Amino acid sequence: MADSPVAQGLLRRLELVDGGLDSAELAAELGVDHQAVVGAVKSLQALGEIIDAELRSTKHWELTAEGQEIDREGSHEARVFHSVPPEGLPQTLLPQRLPSGKVGFSKAMSNKWIRVDKSAADGPRVFRVVDSVEDEVQRRLQLVRSGQAEKLGEKERSELKKRKLLTEVTLKNYWVSKGSAFSTSISKQEAELNPEMISNGSWRDRPFKSYNFSAHGILPDSGHLHPLLKVRTQFRQIFLEMGFTEMPTDNFIESSFWNFDALFQPQQHPARDQHDTFFLKDPADSLQLPMDYVRRVKRIHSHGGYGSQGYKYNWKLDEARKNLLRTHTTAASARALYRLAQKKPFTPAKYFSIDRVFRNETLDATHLAEFHQIEGVVADHGLTLGHLMGVLREFFTKLGITQLRFKPAYNPYTEPSMEVFSYHQGLKKWVEVGNSGLFRPEMLLPMGLPENVSVIAWGLSLERPTMIKYNINNIRELVGHKVNLQMVYNSPLCRLDAERGSPQTQETT
Ligand code: PHE
Repeated sequence: MADSPVAQGLLRRLELVDGGLDSAELAAELGVDHQAVVGAVKSLQALGEIIDAELRSTKHWELTAEGQEIDREGSHEARVFHSVPPEGLPQTLLPQRLPSGKVGFSKAMSNKWIRVDKSAADGPRVFRVVDSVEDEVQRRLQLVRSGQAEKLGEKERSELKKRKLLTEVTLKNYWVSKGSAFSTSISKQEAELNPEMISNGSWRDRPFKSYNFSAHGILPDSGHLHPLLKVRTQFRQIFLEMGFTEMPTDNFIESSFWNFDALFQPQQHPARDQHDTFFLKDPADSLQLPMDYVRRVKRIHSHGGYGSQGYKYNWKLDEARKNLLRTHTTAASARALYRLAQKKPFTPAKYFSIDRVFRNETLDATHLAEFHQIEGVVADHGLTLGHLMGVLREFFTKLGITQLRFKPAYNPYTEPSMEVFSYHQGLKKWVEVGNSGLFRPEMLLPMGLPENVSVIAWGLSLERPTMIKYNINNIRELVGHKVNLQMVYNSPLCRLDAERGSPQTQETT
């Protein structure tokens, strides 16, 4: 830039003058755009003391498009006057002759250049009152055009401005003068120090471009994490801190067997209804099931065992084979526990998962047909309800939720079951934050887990804490085609534990 023709031109002119140059005048002299001169001034300024430049803003008056027309063709009132012949003309003909006839007519009337005779038989007629007129408006605009706006009084200018014939334009130009290190021959500054310059020592004599510390960096082209992913990362972090291992959840499609039967949920349970569950048409059935285990599940449902009466109904394999979109991540927990039971000897385990589930729900501001569940599972010898409450307290404390209450509840696969409530400071009431329980022996023993091993588990949704955290009231603003990408871009990092008033979470069902 500093060695551009415009910069060179500027320096050559500057060499010839004593005082300085105006950037706008220079632009006119060089026949270039003013912006080009401004650019050259800035790049020369960046070189240090070559030039001095002082920003000056000057104002001047310019004609508007209508002003330019009047400058060429006369004011509307003058044109109206000239269109009236000495013998007069019917008033109705006037507007058709001139585009701005209306304005011109009233101005010409108030100037007493024309008059209207209403006594004529064929309607009102317009006559000239004077023989000739001085077009003062045109004369003033011509003065402005020829750069003599200062010859007009303040009042006259503002009058023309009011008629939208003149506008005041502010020009930002530079007054440029020689700097203490003025020179017309400027060598290009180095932008980078390279190994060659170091080895041959030329860096000593080369001029280097100075750093521009206020320059904005280039915005990296990158995607942005959705708030759900940010909150998920935090939950994952909490589980990992507590020593939990993530379960595989990479199958949205599940068989009824793992989603319901393995969980000791009877086949006629209303949750298996089409109204709550999305079943698959193709492939409709799951062919791969661990048949030994399936037989044990069939037995516990239809005849009972391990001291349980079972449900006493005719359990059908066809029903268990039906594929569906998993309705909860507890299906993944069942698979993980079955896998654990196959490993002998038994070793205690802590598992978690955070992934998507599907329910055939009526959609509203807080419900979609798909959402995410967070689930924790602990399997060990002799775990009790007390352990469950202790783990829940630790988990929720890490989220910043300390006031907890437990309420007895029912799940087909846990006994006892508890809903977890937390006191919401904002809403000033207890809100449900999760569901939990001890998995039933009817679920665990057919898997092959030892008799004295019990499993505690809990679940909650990911959407609820995310909506509270990011202040989103309608779930459609968080998930789906109405999501504003700017919201995703703007959403800050999520820190759950490090904040006061951190999010309250909700039930999963
Ligand atoms: N699966 C339950 C639900 O979808 C949550 C839950 C998980 C409950 C584990 C108890 C134990 O609501």
